[in-house]
Amino acid sequence: MREATAKPIVGVGRLTSPDRMAEIIESGVWDLIGAARPNIADPWIPRKIDEGRIDDIRECIGCNMCISKGDNRRHIGCTQNATAGEEHRRGWHPERFDRAANADSEVLVVGAGPAGMECAMVLGRRGMRRVRLVDAADEVGGITRWIPRLPGLAEWGRLREWRLGQLDHSRPDAPPRTLVLVCHDLRLAYKYADSFVVLNRSGRVEGGRAIPKADLPNGPDDLHALIEARALV
Ligand SMILES: Cc1cc2nc3c(=O)[nH]c(=O)nc-3n(C[C@H](O)[C@H](O)[C@H](O)COP(=O)(O)O)c2cc1C
Ligand code: SF4
Repeated sequence: MREATAKPIVGVGRLTSPDRMAEIIESGVWDLIGAARPNIADPWIPRKIDEGRIDDIRECIGCNMCISKGDNRRHIGCTQNATAGEEHRRGWHPERFDRAANADSEVLVVGAGPAGMECAMVLGRRGMRRVRLVDAADEVGGITRWIPRLPGLAEWGRLREWRLGQLDHSRPDAPPRTLVLVCHDLRLAYKYADSFVVLNRSGRVEGGRAIPKADLPNGPDDLHALIEARALV
């Protein structure tokens, strides 16, 4: 390529690792790193590299939902980054979170798949007094507990690992008062809150509202039935 042009050379190829980017530039093969999907997954990638926040980078998993959604629904989205395509439509920012109007409330998020983990993380950053995240399984991650074991899908594990890292209480900037609670027994979950946020597989809140405890007269059994019926975990 060098012999063919005097212009700067830019290349692409789902480059998410800063070390790999530096290696390519230092080798002299390319002058610039192009990053389409890595920037959709994390528009803050240049800033995070600059600040040395490498573990905070939401790495693209290569699922191509972005282009698929863009083509089919004329609206981009991203499996790794819930804010992608929602910046103008809903005013969502990938890294900045306003304090919630009802931040003095406690919230229970039922279903600790990637959507539930993201929900707990964002609610924590929006200053909720306490966020509890529960799941009937003995591990967080939902379907991303087993998808990465399938051939060629190891990178899907990033959906779980990144969120786990963000919810880690040992981080200095961890979402405040967020507790990841994993339990087999929904009685425990039922005990914790007066209302419940139930997510479906797309990460949408079922019914668009929190479900009050009063709507679940049979207690944890109703909660369990709700989760089973919606195949949440
Ligand atoms: C949502 C989306 C839209 C794209 N639209 C175009 C386009 O209109 N024209 C084009 O030449 N390439 C387009 N591309 C391809 C990218 O420019 C890039 O070449 C490709 O995604 C590989 O780079 P990456 O691995 O950094 O994503 C698009 C890619 C994505 C993910
Ligand atoms: S939708 Fe998938 S391929 Fe596209 S940017 Fe997000 S993680 Fe990467």
